[in-house]
Amino acid sequence: MPENDNIASVRNLRKKYDALTAVDGITFDIRRGEIFGLLGPNGAGKTTTIGMLAGILPPTEGEITVAGHDAVTAGVEMKRALGLVSQDLAIYLKLTGRENLEFFGELYGLRGSALADRSRQMLDLVGLADRADSRAEDYSGGMKRRLNLAIGLMHSPQLLLLDEPTVGVDPQSRNHIFEGVRELNRQGLTVLYTSHYMEEVEALCDRVGIMDGGKLVACDTVPNLISSLGGAVIDIGIGNLVPTEDQLLRLRRMEYAESVDFVPSAAPESLLVDAGAAVNLLRIRARQLDKSMPELIAALYDVKISLVSLNVQQPNLETVFLALTGKSLRD
Ligand SMILES: Nc1ncnc2c1ncn2[C@@H]1O[C@H](COP(=O)(O)OP(=O)(O)OP(=O)(O)O)[C@@H](O)[C@H]1O
Ligand SMILES: [Mg+2]
Repeated sequence: MPENDNIASVRNLRKKYDALTAVDGITFDIRRGEIFGLLGPNGAGKTTTIGMLAGILPPTEGEITVAGHDAVTAGVEMKRALGLVSQDLAIYLKLTGRENLEFFGELYGLRGSALADRSRQMLDLVGLADRADSRAEDYSGGMKRRLNLAIGLMHSPQLLLLDEPTVGVDPQSRNHIFEGVRELNRQGLTVLYTSHYMEEVEALCDRVGIMDGGKLVACDTVPNLISSLGGAVIDIGIGNLVPTEDQLLRLRRMEYAESVDFVPSAAPESLLVDAGAAVNLLRIRARQLDKSMPELIAALYDVKISLVSLNVQQPNLETVFLALTGKSLRD
């Protein structure tokens, strides 16, 4: 893809707060038209990265270009290209939803019917049309988040920076936020979406940067990140059988198997347990399940091992995160 298809580029970006390095030399691009996810646990450096992209937090080191402007020195033109929906709500509680939108729309120079039309569209988009004239202080937490999102969209930005927009929201509000983001993306809006919920990132994002301890530990499409782990784990239950070295050797010759390991039954030996209840396993890590499964069945037949049970676990972003950081994403 040509360089000018990037709406934002980040190079060797670093941010230090005294002794603490919150963002530790990260490099990535956001392509025009995509939903780019930043996934990472609490304290990974996501909000700090967004603050620097938005030009409100000066980097300690590194370069950021947004919509053709240097984010550190750029003025209002770059800010016009950006919509920032911050993790902390930035709404006026004493104003109604509509008044909030009109207030922020005016700051961006919208007037008259353009202002009224845009406000109405954004209220529809986030599903707040029927509560438009209630004060924001009377909104539920999820409705406040939806209003926060609508405000960030009032001036029709090219790039929307969304910082954990679904934290603490009910499923209905989450759906409104999801569908709103998807719809705007279909219309051409580029989105940076930060979250520590891997299901959200998996469902929404074209590409994902995984952050941990201020570093970008991986950056790719979800399928590529997942296949970088080496595919699925297949556990074959073989009862109380203990495979011979020769059998294992022959299984390891399979083309689509990356590894074949014998995992003895974890069950304690007991006279009360029938030998048939033992669950020794063959654990196979395999690429391309459609090819590895038939190959595996044939190889087991060939070495005369009968299959008692079969369990296939496809890796997901959670297992990718665990493999890359040694930590779970869950708090
Ligand atoms: N203004 C600040 N002064 C000092 N340290 C800060 C400041 N802001 C953030 N930090 C620290 O920088 C690190 C990264 O914080 P940041 O808010 O960017 O993480 P995050 O990935 O957004 O986390 P969360 O998921 O909790 O929102 C944390 O260790 C945090 O304590
Ligand atoms: Mg944050």
